[in-house]
Amino acid sequence: MKSNLLIALFLSSSLIYSCSQKDDIIFKDNSVEKFRPIYHFTPREAWMNDPNGMFYYEDEYHLFYQYYPDSTIWGPMHWGHAVTKDLVNWEHLPIALEPDELGYIFSGSAVVDIDNSTGFGTKENPPLVAIYTYHDPVGEREGKVDFQTQGIAYSLDKGRTWTKYENNPVLDNPGIKDFRDPKVTLHETTSGKKIWVMTLAVADHIEFYSSEDLLNWDKTGEFGKGIGAHGGVWECPDLIQMETPNGETKYVLLVSINAGGPQKGSATQYFIGDFKDGTFTPDDTMIRWMDYGPDNYAGVTWSNIPESQNRTLMIGWMSNWIYANQVPTEKWRSAMTLPRELSLFEIDGTMLLKSAPTKELQNQRQKVHEISEQSNLPGIALDLSAELDGKDEFTIIFSNELGEQVQITKELGLVSIDRSQSGISNFNPDFAAIHSAPMSWKADKIQIFLDAHSVELFVNDGELVMTSIVFPNSPWKKVELSENLKNAKLSPMEK
Ligand code: FRU
Repeated sequence: MKSNLLIALFLSSSLIYSCSQKDDIIFKDNSVEKFRPIYHFTPREAWMNDPNGMFYYEDEYHLFYQYYPDSTIWGPMHWGHAVTKDLVNWEHLPIALEPDELGYIFSGSAVVDIDNSTGFGTKENPPLVAIYTYHDPVGEREGKVDFQTQGIAYSLDKGRTWTKYENNPVLDNPGIKDFRDPKVTLHETTSGKKIWVMTLAVADHIEFYSSEDLLNWDKTGEFGKGIGAHGGVWECPDLIQMETPNGETKYVLLVSINAGGPQKGSATQYFIGDFKDGTFTPDDTMIRWMDYGPDNYAGVTWSNIPESQNRTLMIGWMSNWIYANQVPTEKWRSAMTLPRELSLFEIDGTMLLKSAPTKELQNQRQKVHEISEQSNLPGIALDLSAELDGKDEFTIIFSNELGEQVQITKELGLVSIDRSQSGISNFNPDFAAIHSAPMSWKADKIQIFLDAHSVELFVNDGELVMTSIVFPNSPWKKVELSENLKNAKLSPMEK
């Protein structure tokens, strides 16, 4: 069984609704926007990619993101900004960081400097510190290799305004072209001392740096050359301390990779191991993917989540570099995934990472309806759940009156999302495809979140996850379930 799992992972009614259908979303300004999600985060307009700098502070979850306000195509990067109190309703805030003479503002993280180690604030009003990559387009054009460096900025007003550190960069480039996406976390050493650790993506590996004040950094170790997936450059890492189901402390290292994901293009792999003496040692060299769908990239976790919440929260960019610049939305490009709670679980002696939808999403359900094998859908924003009765196989088909459909199955140990007939796909030859993921253990229940242009599948509360974007010409109107799916429930997720 274990070897099956290893090989697989290596290979890499009852109620019919009569509600009127909403073909498009009507926004407050009365504009009509096709494909605009109801409960997923999107920028109001223009281009967005990676989530950046997430932290929790004074009852707000902050989300920054790679943003180019002048176009729906990637360009000079800024950090856009939004906050939420419930991980569902977002308030858009002004752009937090703009490019300057050191370059564009690429991905990075942010921390609450609670002891004022930087001296930027006071202990009473601790500074919020963002650590990001400067990407110097001039150096790049001139053919230099050292055009990516790390800079910092701070805020003393709950993230509303940011001041860049006058002595940037805080970490120079050692002569490596890809040297980016710092994720800073606070660590307690074995002697009980607290230090900042920066996890940095450096071409084909990860480097670790440590600092006492976020301003001076020393390299402490590196990991990854020749280990894991290497079909593309390593990006957007995260080092997360977690507990195993037995209460043992482990570290999970997330590493996004583009290209070389299991469905082509971008994806996020992870390693489980220990972090000691400034470096990471994996328990094994198995290749594991956080999400087997084509559209969850650059996901990292929130810092400073209160201990009372006892959870690790992550969000990803719901797209793929293969076609992100071409998807058929007009005013804006890209949404984030649903926020997810990460935890470890063990199956047949192998430790894996689980991503479950956050519990806040339950509050979004307006009503819960039991449904039969064939039901009409009440709208475009839905949560569907069901349990498997008997055999370890299922089929779910969402379709519209144009004959377009998305089919979700488990068969012969493979979970698949088939979006080959799901609507608009002519923007890129790789889009219309069937994506499959190995799942050698039994599926007991499924949950699917649908929004205007996405499908997120969680099997067994996130033991296997697939995220896929779709662009139907008309919203899904009907769902069909295989007969072994019992206790099926559907909830509208509209706000
Ligand atoms: C990942 C990434 C990062 C980089 C950013 C630029 O999607 O390529 O490595 O910092 O996007 O926008």
